[in-house]
Amino acid sequence: MSKKPLILGIESSCDETAASLITENEQGIPVVLSNIISSQVDVHKEFGGVVPELAARSHMEKIDWIVQKAIDDSGRKIEEIDAVASTAGPGLIVCLSVGLSFGKAFASALNKPFIAVNHLEGHALSPKLNSKLNYPYLLLLISGGHSQFLNVQSLGKYKRLGTTIDDALGEAFDKTAKLLGIEFPGGPQIEVLAKKGDPNKYDLPKPIFNKGGCNLSFAGLKTAILRIAKNIKTEQEKFDLAASFQKTVEEILYKKTKIAFREFEKQNKPKEKIFVVAGGVAANKNIRSMLKDLCNEENYKSMFPPIELCGDNAAMIAMVGLERFKLKQFNDLDHPAKPRWPLDENAAFLKGAGVQL
Ligand code: KG4
Ligand code: ZN
Repeated sequence: MSKKPLILGIESSCDETAASLITENEQGIPVVLSNIISSQVDVHKEFGGVVPELAARSHMEKIDWIVQKAIDDSGRKIEEIDAVASTAGPGLIVCLSVGLSFGKAFASALNKPFIAVNHLEGHALSPKLNSKLNYPYLLLLISGGHSQFLNVQSLGKYKRLGTTIDDALGEAFDKTAKLLGIEFPGGPQIEVLAKKGDPNKYDLPKPIFNKGGCNLSFAGLKTAILRIAKNIKTEQEKFDLAASFQKTVEEILYKKTKIAFREFEKQNKPKEKIFVVAGGVAANKNIRSMLKDLCNEENYKSMFPPIELCGDNAAMIAMVGLERFKLKQFNDLDHPAKPRWPLDENAAFLKGAGVQL
């Protein structure tokens, strides 16, 4: 039996401090040995959002014991670790620096390779943690900071097909929750409230619905919610607005995903058409089931990470580390933290006023 790589992953790009050890079995399927996540919800709650300096301080306070716990829970010894993979971007620079510096120091002390990981690539590869997934595939990445359709050609090779031109979808969920008076972090609560409401009560806008290919836009939707939320008087109206928002988002994603399918097929002729949905918003059960239905209609195979691996975690960072380790793609210890680090470096910047679609 050959020795399988043992990878330590570290994540600290925003408000989760996380560490994980993964390896793979004899069939080459990844095995998560430990996955420790410490969320900072209590630190940021009173401010209604993430405060970068407080987040960085909290990462510094916790990173030692989070990594120690990940090693202890894995049942493996520290000297068995073959490589250390840390998130190097994108994210808040003060937060990234904590996990990145820790990972570099750890790798250096163990005299093992260091791998600097793009957080978005972690999300992109997260379904590999529980299923076999071959390249190429179409990825819808929907998180708190990003909303994109990407043609994932191979490890590290991405072609962006569409992106949000303003807010990320997770941001729209969070802002809607805030306007409905739901405590931070409110995004995941929207689907809970939506179950009690009438999705047809409010007619909300769908920006760039009929133009702009599979690009997305959510700012106009947020403005409409702001206007309606001001006049809401009853709990039922709150549920109705949450339900209408959830329904509108599903309609936007349904239409734009269909367009992305056609774009993907123009660029690839795969034997099997695969659609992966990842990032925090991929935890939304109604979005998952609507996209699964669409895939059935369109003869695509749909793949999602397990719900608990949709949000930020270090197992997905270790997953990228595992693939890069096998290809001996290591980084030097002077690798910088990169607050902005698009997966497709060649894609045009599509944000702000005056964007031509
Ligand atoms: O991927 P993630 O954990 O962090 C980033 O990399 O941004 O995504 C966090 C985002 C937040 O905006 C959160 O509100 C959203 O994912 N989210 C959800 C749900 N769970 C998390 N949005 C809608 N429905 C959910 N169930
Ligand atoms: Zn993330």
